[in-house]
Amino acid sequence: LRRGAVAPDLAGRRVVISAGGTREAIDPVRFIGNHSSGRQGYALARTAAARGADVTLVAANVDLPDPAGARVVRVSSAVELSEAMAAERAGADAVVMTAAVADFRPVTSAASKIKKSGAAPAPIELVENPDILAGLVVDREREGLEQTIVGFAAETDDVIANGRAKLARKGCDLLVVNQVGGGRAFGTEDNQATVLASDGAVVDIPTGPKEALADRVWDLVVERLPRGAR
Ligand code: CTP
Ligand code: CA
Repeated sequence: LRRGAVAPDLAGRRVVISAGGTREAIDPVRFIGNHSSGRQGYALARTAAARGADVTLVAANVDLPDPAGARVVRVSSAVELSEAMAAERAGADAVVMTAAVADFRPVTSAASKIKKSGAAPAPIELVENPDILAGLVVDREREGLEQTIVGFAAETDDVIANGRAKLARKGCDLLVVNQVGGGRAFGTEDNQATVLASDGAVVDIPTGPKEALADRVWDLVVERLPRGAR
């Protein structure tokens, strides 16, 4: 291949990628959210499209231009993201969850803007959100699908041990683990990661642009796709 040319090794494949960060409404003007920019998910969408895939990008609160060649579905909350992923996963060869999903949401969202009353504020009661990634694995097993499922995790402390435990708990095929701290991961242009595979493989991806990391992730996905099953 000519330098800069891309192997169309995802041609005929359908991939679904979640990106961004969910927002959990407290009242009509406030939410619980996170700092995920969506850049890594968008880089995965761009690179998959460049490699020939049919790409659906489920974007939660991302302020970036639509990637060329991807169909974009916009959501906001974790429950909306869960519903969108449940609808889009059918028939996908690979599903990649880069979205930062809020672990908890307020039990109720006030219909009117919460006002100061002079008294102490009422506590906000939280309930756990569905684990979308684990649910995708359950759906795949139930339907006996050949589908590669990838998660992302930001970890501190013993990053690999935490990542291994999370990979096992979620049941996905690949977990891309970022070490957080030192200005990495959230909102930065560059990314570094270790990819842990359910087959025991450990692949270090050196610090580089999010596109380069995305391409390495697709390499690992392509290796795991059933051959010729289109
Ligand atoms: N994830 C998900 N649904 C959730 C929470 C997380 O699908 N409710 C996905 C994320 O998109 C990511 C992966 O799971 O791909 C790991 O997210 P992380 O927050 O690290 O996992 P948790 O199970 O929430 O563990 P922790 O308690 O460490 O936050
Ligand atoms: Ca979490």
